[in-house]
Amino acid sequence: MAVYIINGGNRLEGELRVEGSKNAVLPILAASIINGKNSVIHNVPYLKDVNTLINVLESIGCKCSFEGDTVIVNSTGDLDINIPEKPVREMRSSIILMGAMLGRFKKVKISFPGGCEIGLRPINLHLSGLRLLGAKIVESNGYILCECDKLYGNDIYLDYPSVGATENIMLAAVMAEGVTTIKNAAREPEIVDLQNFLNKMGAKIVGAGTDTIRIQGVKGFHDVEHTVIPDRIVAGTYAVAAAITGGRVIIRDIIPEHIKPVISKLRESGCTIYRYDKDISIIGKRRPNAVNIIKTMPYPGFPTDMQAQMMALMCISRGTTMFIETIFESRFKHAEELIKMGANIRIEGRSAIVKGVNKLKGAHVFSRDLRGGAALVLAGLAAEGTTIVDNVDLHIERGYENLDLKLKDLGADITKEK
Ligand code: UD1
Repeated sequence: MAVYIINGGNRLEGELRVEGSKNAVLPILAASIINGKNSVIHNVPYLKDVNTLINVLESIGCKCSFEGDTVIVNSTGDLDINIPEKPVREMRSSIILMGAMLGRFKKVKISFPGGCEIGLRPINLHLSGLRLLGAKIVESNGYILCECDKLYGNDIYLDYPSVGATENIMLAAVMAEGVTTIKNAAREPEIVDLQNFLNKMGAKIVGAGTDTIRIQGVKGFHDVEHTVIPDRIVAGTYAVAAAITGGRVIIRDIIPEHIKPVISKLRESGCTIYRYDKDISIIGKRRPNAVNIIKTMPYPGFPTDMQAQMMALMCISRGTTMFIETIFESRFKHAEELIKMGANIRIEGRSAIVKGVNKLKGAHVFSRDLRGGAALVLAGLAAEGTTIVDNVDLHIERGYENLDLKLKDLGADITKEK
């Protein structure tokens, strides 16, 4: 397993550019199956999860090329409707292939994604949505077989605004006969990016970014070229890196509106943040103030994917912060590791109470999930002495492009060892 070795204490200074969004590009890659033509996708981050999905696309018969940050997917001809099991078990988000394959080929066989580090993550909303479009779904021996003669538009009310379910339904509905309306849809920016990509290839979708999405099914699609939105969680992570080291960093090529809730909490903690059109500059305070409550919510609320990083920051704040995790049931695994570094954290069910300490101390810690791992790196940047963050290739590198090198460019003392 690869590790990061961090000697804490350096203030970060300088500027950096944020890569394209992982959570936007994954459904977009799945969508490239639909047109049966060429999809040219720019600003694709070079990440393990992205490579895994591209490998799946290749294994079912797409031709893919990755040059610089551009991926070209050619999905002409018949593709294999059997999605290989291993990547689906490794990467839950490959379940997004279900909607796209069902939409185009009216049949798909995919393995049931297992549980994961941050909770059970069921897919009942994906399945009930696809059933309402006319899919017959049989679950047996760990596999899901979906098929239909035709998909028909329908009104679908989601009990919860699930990101993945909204995307899967959109992907299937673009080829359904008639109109599909998704109510209580997820409003995340990645859904808007998927709508934009699909519309550029000929789909007729309106409403993404609101709680009601309307999809008029169409019969044919064409080639498409699209640039993926910048990664708001990566941007937020670097903002916290600046904050936790009392640094001064300019984060370029982002959509500041997408990280408004993070900016708001960082300002509350005493950071000075200037917002420009596509950049933000952030100046951290020597020791942050505690933010009273951080409660994760679906977009535009505070993102669950930034909870761990903010917790690292609050570990060294003046005062007490209450974290309430409303999205995933077991997303505090980083807390145990932060405690090894001297943090004062108490977990009560879905809440964590963090009492700020003066300093964290370096320790050997283990990343247990993607964002929790990033939080440990941030804690290591601020800690006294040496921190070893383990399992970085298993988790952190799934969602951050060259995190170590980008932090090093900003002045961090961080090295990677295999
Ligand atoms: C996506 C993001 C992930 C982020 C999450 C919430 C991707 C690849 N991943 O994950 O980084 O943390 O949104 O912002 O985009 N649920 C059900 N039944 C379902 C579907 C979901 O009960 O059928 C529950 C989940 O268990 C979870 C909650 O709904 O408690 C939110 O899940 P969802 O919005 O679907 O997240 P993902 O799409 O898996």
